[in-house]
Amino acid sequence: MNIRFEQSGTKERNLAMELVRVTEAAALSAGRWMGRGDKEKADQAAVDAMRQALDGVDMDGVVVIGEGEKDEAPMLYIGERVGNGSPPQVDVAVDPIDGTRLLSLGLPGALAVVATAERGTMYSAPPGVFYMEKIAVGPAAKDVIDINAPVAVNLERIARAKDAQIDDLTVIILDRPRHQEIIRQIRQAGARIRLISDGDVAAAILAAMEDYRGVDVLMGIGGAPEAVLAAAAIKCLGGAMQCKVWPRSDEEREKFKAEGIDLDQVLTIDDLVHSNDVSFAATGITSGELLDGVQYFGWGARTSSIMMRSRSGTVRYIQARHKWRRGLGASQAQTAR
Ligand code: FBP
Repeated sequence: MNIRFEQSGTKERNLAMELVRVTEAAALSAGRWMGRGDKEKADQAAVDAMRQALDGVDMDGVVVIGEGEKDEAPMLYIGERVGNGSPPQVDVAVDPIDGTRLLSLGLPGALAVVATAERGTMYSAPPGVFYMEKIAVGPAAKDVIDINAPVAVNLERIARAKDAQIDDLTVIILDRPRHQEIIRQIRQAGARIRLISDGDVAAAILAAMEDYRGVDVLMGIGGAPEAVLAAAAIKCLGGAMQCKVWPRSDEEREKFKAEGIDLDQVLTIDDLVHSNDVSFAATGITSGELLDGVQYFGWGARTSSIMMRSRSGTVRYIQARHKWRRGLGASQAQTAR
């Protein structure tokens, strides 16, 4: 899709520039709930702010990845129309808080995330599919990963592609009992491991950033919506990702099979986001490796965001200083800009 400004006729529009205001709004609202032990209220604050900010974006959006059935959310549900209705027509993927538990406990790494792609190009998992097995890497190793290959083989290939040894590599993976076996295999192969308690969208981004050496590959099982959001970001970064639907139990496996879901299907990055016009934005809520969290002051707040788009491959970091509007209390003003 070739999106151009009407007025100039020459400049290409960058939707990510507008999306960053959406993630900033969500982070500014959600950040108030840091460490307060209330995931629901934090999520509601993020969703409300994100919903309101999305309405100001010049786009005709349909939420494809949303709060959806998993969280039974009243807003930003799958199928909801967002944006002010003007072109372009886009699919919208949102995660108002990736790392709700992190935020509620005041732990590092919670983010507000939004991505868009041309209408009809984002993957929506079949109803009831909540998890995916994932592998994600940056540009250097994009042609060598194979989710069906043994862990040691993937690590060997990634190391070679990066002109490194396996013991130079760091694998990032969610700290979950279901990962016991894969962690054993990673250790046996000799790679280093970064265990994270939540937030595999940020983890996938770190793995795919070619100018960051702290993490080389994301492995393991995480949320299905997060897979699509991560794929959108990785498309912009020029990396690769592969996923497979992951049933949580034998019973679920049988159910999925009976529903005709192909558990052997490898979803590539193009299956997850079949578009070359992808925009992505994320704002830190609590400080983490990728982004700083929101800092509040009497006069306003500071946010730290990343935005990128696939057409150019440009990655921008935006530090913003938000001033509360005069006459409004800070809590009312935090989304008012
Ligand atoms: P939420 O903040 O939406 O709960 O997601 C956090 C998260 O860690 C994701 O980043 C990850 O994909 C998913 O949860 C993993 O699910 P689970 O915690 O059930 O293992």
